[in-house]
Amino acid sequence: MTQILDRLHQEHKQISKLLDLLDDILAMFHRGREPDYELLSELLQYMEEYSDQIHHPVEEVIRERLRLAGQNQPYLDILTRQHEALNEMTHNFRQAVEGVVNGEVQRRDQVEAYGREMVTTLRHHLNLEETEAFPLARQVLTAADWVAIQEEVARTIDPRLSETDLQRIRTLVQHLTSQVRT
Ligand SMILES: [Fe+2]
Ligand SMILES: [Fe+2]
Repeated sequence: MTQILDRLHQEHKQISKLLDLLDDILAMFHRGREPDYELLSELLQYMEEYSDQIHHPVEEVIRERLRLAGQNQPYLDILTRQHEALNEMTHNFRQAVEGVVNGEVQRRDQVEAYGREMVTTLRHHLNLEETEAFPLARQVLTAADWVAIQEEVARTIDPRLSETDLQRIRTLVQHLTSQVRT
């Protein structure tokens, strides 16, 4: 009954790859080269929306079930606070990138700082979920808990992206990846 965790784990692997790509883009930016800011902004918008509307809400349903099961480890509260902070950090980075797109004067070190803050915090967050929260959920939640989680997720969250969106994201990632490799 832990297909939901398996799916979140797969999403973490995808997010990790995107973080590697963002690292490469930030390194390129640091060296004074210009990434495709419009594509980067679009990628960040997707990351922001997917996290805010799908990935984090599913994790919060599991967190609530853990709380009902008497689990109140401090790292669970840290993860919840990070969900809010990460949305803001991704938003700040995207706003800075959009500022560049719109020709606003941006300090390069500030744009880079927003990016690094988001990438570092998100990596730490994924790691905390993979090493602490997910093993705890697998260990303490019962089959009945997972049924309740699945029902709550089905009732409140639409977990799918359209094929058009998926194709667009693949294209974005391909373009940005080919740019950092040249
Ligand atoms: Fe999370
Ligand atoms: Fe996560």
